[in-house]
Formats: sequence, structure tokens, C-alpha cells
Amino acid sequence: MTIDTSGSNGHISEHIYGHFAEHLGRGIYDGFWKKDANGDYIIRDDVVATLKELGVPNLRWPGGCFADYYFWEHGIGPKDQRPTVVNNLWGGVTEDNSVGTHEFMDLVAELETEPIVVGNVGSGSVEDMANWWQYINHPGESPMAKLRRENGRDEPWKVRFWGVGNESWGCGGHMRPEYYADLYRRFATFLHAYGDVKPFRIATGPAGGDYNWTEVVMERAGRMIDGIDLHHYTLDGSWSTHKGQAVNFDEGGWYRLMGRAMEMDELITNHKAIMDAHDPEKRVWLIVGEWGTWHEQEEGSIPGFLYQQNTLRDALSASVTLDIFHQHLDRVKMANIAQTVNVLQAMILTDGERMLRTPTFHTFDLYKPHREATALPYELDRGEYKYDGEEGEPLPAISATASINDAGRIHLSLTNIDPNEARTVEVQFADGKKLKVKEARILTADAMNARNTFDAPDALVPSAFKGAKFAKGKLVVKLPAKSLVTIGLE
Ligand code: AHR
Repeated sequence: MTIDTSGSNGHISEHIYGHFAEHLGRGIYDGFWKKDANGDYIIRDDVVATLKELGVPNLRWPGGCFADYYFWEHGIGPKDQRPTVVNNLWGGVTEDNSVGTHEFMDLVAELETEPIVVGNVGSGSVEDMANWWQYINHPGESPMAKLRRENGRDEPWKVRFWGVGNESWGCGGHMRPEYYADLYRRFATFLHAYGDVKPFRIATGPAGGDYNWTEVVMERAGRMIDGIDLHHYTLDGSWSTHKGQAVNFDEGGWYRLMGRAMEMDELITNHKAIMDAHDPEKRVWLIVGEWGTWHEQEEGSIPGFLYQQNTLRDALSASVTLDIFHQHLDRVKMANIAQTVNVLQAMILTDGERMLRTPTFHTFDLYKPHREATALPYELDRGEYKYDGEEGEPLPAISATASINDAGRIHLSLTNIDPNEARTVEVQFADGKKLKVKEARILTADAMNARNTFDAPDALVPSAFKGAKFAKGKLVVKLPAKSLVTIGLE
């Protein structure tokens, strides 16, 4: 590997490390919030403290699919007067609207994060969405600011990131891109700048490789779009039959999932090319607003709640994906892994009062030094990994991110996806810079499905890494099989 320590592959926006909190399963209720002795929902301090360790740059809410079913008026005012609705999408459970705009903004304040609010295009009206925007953001005298004040909040929350619908090609209304592009223009028109808040308007983007969606939406509405929201999940199986097991997988499952995670590179490359044709100045962000692994939900968990365990395989599929985002920084400025607590590829799982950090939490932790740093260009002989029991191409075995921060410290993250073979990477620094290893941590385990459980919440955590040493001017990194390391150099 050769790293150009004075070059730049772009700025790694912290917003690439964003999160997602939908009214789904035990994400909001019995996730971020728990019931107190009086039966009222309160924010969980342990969850907030743990997420603050990591730093949450942004949080997307209230969906997901739920966003296009959500009427924000149901979630304001006295709690005992809020209507209950049925969450038909996710488990058919009753949603009592205990958590609405004010409660979500309280969470945002506690997490010191930036909200992304997704408005309802699928079943709501333009007036509804414009009113919600005004309720949240209007600083002066207006009907919605008055209502907000009556509900106890004087100052506007100043939310700039605003989704105009979610997955409008699917759960958000099954629209054609032509129809959505027109609707987008209409809804986006009525999101006015208030005070010093100018809306950053995010359009529903494509599902995976639906390039026609990007083409049509960019062509017809691109001038009014600030960000377009690609969604792509990583499955070991298929949507229609079996998505694949979270824990009980073999090497075939490991190999397939890693290959699927790597498809992100091709998707971003192709969507970027379409965007470049319509927006050569690269003004519009490509946002990967939902990404991560999606397995069959855990046996015995409530159907529709999307609760899944998280193993070393999830952790390394996340590092590989983050490496891909860092290769496309000219467009990829924001991303949201799905989701934060108890849903899909979560950071945290809870069980009553107990909670654990998942292996994916630790990937995000190991990648923290790259946030807001400059990505360094590199050349890398990635080697190959192939599982013989499956058809398909060999996969690149090594994946990497190198970055330099404002203080001049270089961080190198290397992932070896090969579950069987250790690999050695010899790193040269193009300008012959003299560096020393300042810190190094590794996430690895003997088993591909190593994980944390409520009885052993720290079974899989990063540890000090001793396998990175300088020899004859080169940094020699001995990467064990199935491992992720981050090395700090100065
Ligand atoms: O994250 C779960 C669901 O996946 C979201 O609600 C939806 O947008 C996507 O299909």
C-alpha cells in the first residue's frame, strides 16, 4: 500500500456517520425511550450516554416508511389528548403518539445531534408538510409558531435537513419517478426559509440500482433538490424468500454478505455518473439515507419489529461500506445506517434495563478518527478472497481508509475480510514522511459470528493491536483473519 500523505481525496463529512430512528419495533418505544414508574415514557440515559461516546452527527426521524403515514399533529399537545393510530407497517401495533415533535427534539438536544425530519408526501398534503415546517422553524408571529408556543416551546428548533417523502417508489406511495418529481417540486416549493434557516431539501432517491429513478428525478426536479436519498440494504439471501440468518450462517453466508456490501461501490459510481450529467458542479449531495444489513429477524421476537443480532460479520461489512463512502466524497456527504437501537443493524440492543454495544458500534468507534478529516489517496494491492463453496467472483480481501486530521495525525483503517487467512500489508508513505505508531486497536474474534449478548456484553470489543511496526521505513501491518484495525500515526 502506498499512501499519499499530502494529497486529498476529499473531506470526510461527519454526516456520513449519521443514524436513523423510525417508529418501528423497539427503536423508539422500549429503545430510546422507556416507561417510568408512572407509565410515562422517558428518554433512556444509558442509551443517550452510550451514543454520545460515539457522537451522533445527525438523526433521521420519524421514518422510513412510517414518515409517509405520519401526521405530525397527532404528536403534539397534551399526551392524554393525542390520538392513537395503528402502525400498520411495523407489527400492526398501536402507536399512541407519546413521542412526537417536542419529545424527538428533546432527544436531539440530549444527543447534541442534528435532526433530519422526513415529511409525509405519500398520504399527507402540501399544507400539512408546510405547517409542520413552520411549526418547527418559524421564529416570529405565525399560526404554527403560536401553536408551538401554546405547547410550551418558544424558540424554533431550526431544523434544516428535510426529507420530502421516503421511498416514494415503494411504501411511500408506489409512484413513478415522473409523478414523484412533479410532487417533489410542489411540496418543496412551500418549504420557505424562516429566519436564518434555509431548507436543505432531500428528495426520495433510488432503490439500489434503479438508475431510471435518479435520471428522471434529477432531470425533472434536480434544480430544486439539495440531496437525493439512495437506499440500499445488504442481505445474505433474498427479499422474497429468506433474507439470511443473523447468527447461524456458514462461510457461504459470510462470503455472500461481504460481496453484497461491496455492491455499494458500483451503485454509487453509477448514480454519481447520472447526477454528474445533470449537476456537473456537484451541488446536490448523494445521501445514502438507509444502509446496513438486513437479516431474518430474531426467532421469538415480535413479527415486523426487525430485531436482529449483530456479529463480527456485520461489523466488517460496515467498515467495508464506510471505506466505499470515503472513495466517493465528491458526492457522498451524508449517510444513515439503519437503525440505531433494537432495529436492523443497530448500534445498541436493549433488554429491559440491560443494554449492549453491538460489534457495529465498535466499527463506528474505530472509524471515529476519520470524521471531519481529509481522505488520503492511496494505492493498494487488495489481494483476493474467495469461498470455494459458492459461485461468484473473488472479492478484494483488504479494504482501507486513510485520512489526516487538522492536527496532522494520520489514521489508517484496514479490514481483512478473509475469514481464514491472515494478511500482511506493507505501507509506504509517498513523500517518505517519518512517522511513528501512536495508537492501534483491533476488532477481531475466532468465530465469524462472534457477538455481544446481554450476559456477555463485552465479548467482542476492540483491543490494543500490536501487529503494526515500522521496519526499514515501511509500516508492516499483520492483519489477522477477519479483522479490522485502526492505527494512529504521527
Ligand atoms: O429501515 C426499515 C425500512 O426500510 C424503512 O422504513 C424503509 O424506508 C426501508 O424500506
